[in-house]
Amino acid sequence: MSKSNNGNSSQLAHLVRRFFASLGQRSPDPSDVVWVKETLLQAEFELWEKMSPSDQRHSIAVAQMARSELPNDVTTMRAGLLHDIGKIGVPSGLITRVAAAISKPLATEDRVNRWSQGKGPLASLGAFMSYPQLGASMLREVGSDDFTVMWATEHHLPSTEWTVERTRAEVLQRADQFAV
Ligand SMILES: [Fe+2]
Ligand SMILES: [Fe+2]
Repeated sequence: MSKSNNGNSSQLAHLVRRFFASLGQRSPDPSDVVWVKETLLQAEFELWEKMSPSDQRHSIAVAQMARSELPNDVTTMRAGLLHDIGKIGVPSGLITRVAAAISKPLATEDRVNRWSQGKGPLASLGAFMSYPQLGASMLREVGSDDFTVMWATEHHLPSTEWTVERTRAEVLQRADQFAV
């Protein structure tokens, strides 16, 4: 199997696990929420609180996995907690998430832009798929550091297109793939 096939199938496995995890609405452990509050800036925490319980649990899992590889690196933990924050500003119902998972291989940047400018279901899909950019602008507005902002934008891109610091990005990408 080629390297890109491997990449695609592990991404698909990740999407399937995330999809089933997203069905649960269990809130994160209160002690984890205390840790999130201590780790983020106040304005970042106020955004984080708006995420769905399943996205909150995913973000904690990502940040804690990253912490185990880069202990004491608050920037990486914040970026892990906030990488999917743009989802709070887009339609993210079950059907949209499933459609996004299925159509991801077709979603070039041009197409996503075109879809989000249209109307109807494709517009919701396009809006959902552009959440990385939306998240980055939310984070820039509340004063997050550059790495956190850029990781929100770049976390779905192939590593060849990253502009961010690679050690942190590799740790976070691995964590994002394994954390449900
Ligand atoms: Fe994401
Ligand atoms: Fe994620």
